[in-house]
Amino acid sequence: MVLRAMSRFSFIIIILSLWAGDRANAERAGCKNVHYDLVFLLDTSYSVGKENFEKVRQWVANLVGTFDIGPDKTRVGVVSYSDKPYTEFNLGAYQNIEDIKQAAASIRYRRGNTVTGEAIGYVTLNSFSQQAGGRPNDPNIQKVAILLTDGRSQDEVLPNATLAHSAGIRLFAVGVGDALKEELEEIASEPKSAHMFHVTDFNAIDKIRGILRQRLCQNVLCPNLKLAGSQYKLQNKVSANIPGFDLMEQFRVKSIIGTKDGGFVRLGTMPVVQMT
Ligand SMILES: *[C@@H]1O[C@H](CO)[C@@H](O)[C@H](O)[C@H]1NC(C)=O
Repeated sequence: MVLRAMSRFSFIIIILSLWAGDRANAERAGCKNVHYDLVFLLDTSYSVGKENFEKVRQWVANLVGTFDIGPDKTRVGVVSYSDKPYTEFNLGAYQNIEDIKQAAASIRYRRGNTVTGEAIGYVTLNSFSQQAGGRPNDPNIQKVAILLTDGRSQDEVLPNATLAHSAGIRLFAVGVGDALKEELEEIASEPKSAHMFHVTDFNAIDKIRGILRQRLCQNVLCPNLKLAGSQYKLQNKVSANIPGFDLMEQFRVKSIIGTKDGGFVRLGTMPVVQMT
């Protein structure tokens, strides 16, 4: 009896560790094989300050260095904004890391106000289009925008953020210093906690580089995991094109309803649940 219980126990351990290994592989492969149309949306308003903006340029360059850049891989574009948005360079305008880093170093610091809502609308309408170097018709390319702001927007952000979300743009919100949590929350894609960052000052933005990069690719965890479709609903058609993005939603639903009847096993602190 004891023996049988023990062997069953070790069987479970083996299965779990196999699955965990699989997951790590999937994560590595996912980070490598998923490509993005990646647009930085940078607040260059007066409050940022010239010195800090230099840190923003450096941050962009460092972050770009972690991607597999190329015309058929990840393309990077930059939009800056203050009183209004400006395209600094389009997606794919520069085709290797060194050129993008150089372009990032010469992003203009403009001063002025902070019209974050308008800037999000601008990016949604313009920056991911084919004319702007985007690949809107390629289902393997994820649309991602990383917004960095240091303060309260002069206009409403929610309407245009909602528009961006439903256009299938995964929106990360990075707030520095006085940036409002409520506003970041309105901007960020679901799940909010995975797409929101707040740091105290511009020296700290580089500290979140790793975790931001990790969150970007975590959405492709467990690509082969099958989930019961009846337990969640797609929020809209567009988000179905973002692999794994909906998985996060499913996991959350399951972690709430699934554990009680013993139908699911939760692993680690990640919100990852697998049917047994
Ligand atoms: C939404 O974006 C558009 C395009 O940039 C802009 O004209 C409009 O003012 C924005 N709306 C809000 C509420 O900011």
